[in-house]
Amino acid sequence: MEVIIRPDAEEGCLLGAKIIAKTVRDKPDAVLGLATGRTPERLYRALVGMHRDDGLDFSRVTTFNLDEYVGLPPGHPQSYRRFMDEHLFRHIDIDPANTHVPDGTAEDLQAECRSYEERIAAAGGIDLQLLGLGRNGHIGFNEPTGSLNSRTWVRILSEQTLTDNAEVFGDRAAMPRHAITMGVGTIMEARRIVLLAFGPAKVRAVMDMIEGPLAAICPGSALQAHPRATVVLDEESAAGLQFSDHYRWVDENKFPWQRYD
Ligand code: GLP
Repeated sequence: MEVIIRPDAEEGCLLGAKIIAKTVRDKPDAVLGLATGRTPERLYRALVGMHRDDGLDFSRVTTFNLDEYVGLPPGHPQSYRRFMDEHLFRHIDIDPANTHVPDGTAEDLQAECRSYEERIAAAGGIDLQLLGLGRNGHIGFNEPTGSLNSRTWVRILSEQTLTDNAEVFGDRAAMPRHAITMGVGTIMEARRIVLLAFGPAKVRAVMDMIEGPLAAICPGSALQAHPRATVVLDEESAAGLQFSDHYRWVDENKFPWQRYD
């Protein structure tokens, strides 16, 4: 894993946006895997700024989102489709037909999961997958102890996740308890992964993900086995890491071509 510690979330998001922008400039028809949650909001704002001010072109880009709540229609204020429209898609020149979010209202959810996998494969696989990290170490909605080889599937959300996301959702009682999510195996097939985790609430999950054993109890730890995974942290989320001096040392001694800014 490449671990990069930035002073704060703002700078971490800017770095994440630069990595995505470089991917799109190098490959204008790139396939991006996208994430929702509070963490990437500023990253999307930075990408919108790069589109507006520097002409970053998304017209040939295809996107696949990680997950969606079961039962929420696309227009629902808390749906991840709506989140993506509001934070990114409607501010850039992407073709809406090329933006994919699992359909949480599909009558046959398992068929929707299979079709999602097929659509990713038909697009040629994911060039870069953006991830956040749950407080319990989940990626997408892959909760602790689920298979690390899983494909897109329907998951039951843990009580911890319901509590964490209720802050955003508002009414916990109204929250769906199920979600469709890319599996850990699906995520691991992305050619490149960039995971962002910021703030004190993520300290434990970050420690387990980077320095703990590769284990299903922390789904994010699967990234230890990925050939090209970059983890972007801020000082707060990195506070518990045993080898943080080493990560900083590596960062300081990179060749210019190994840097993103
Ligand atoms: C959510 C999402 C994840 C997200 C994580 C962290 O439940 N399913 O994709 O990365 O939890 O959310 P936040 O960024 O709001 O802390």
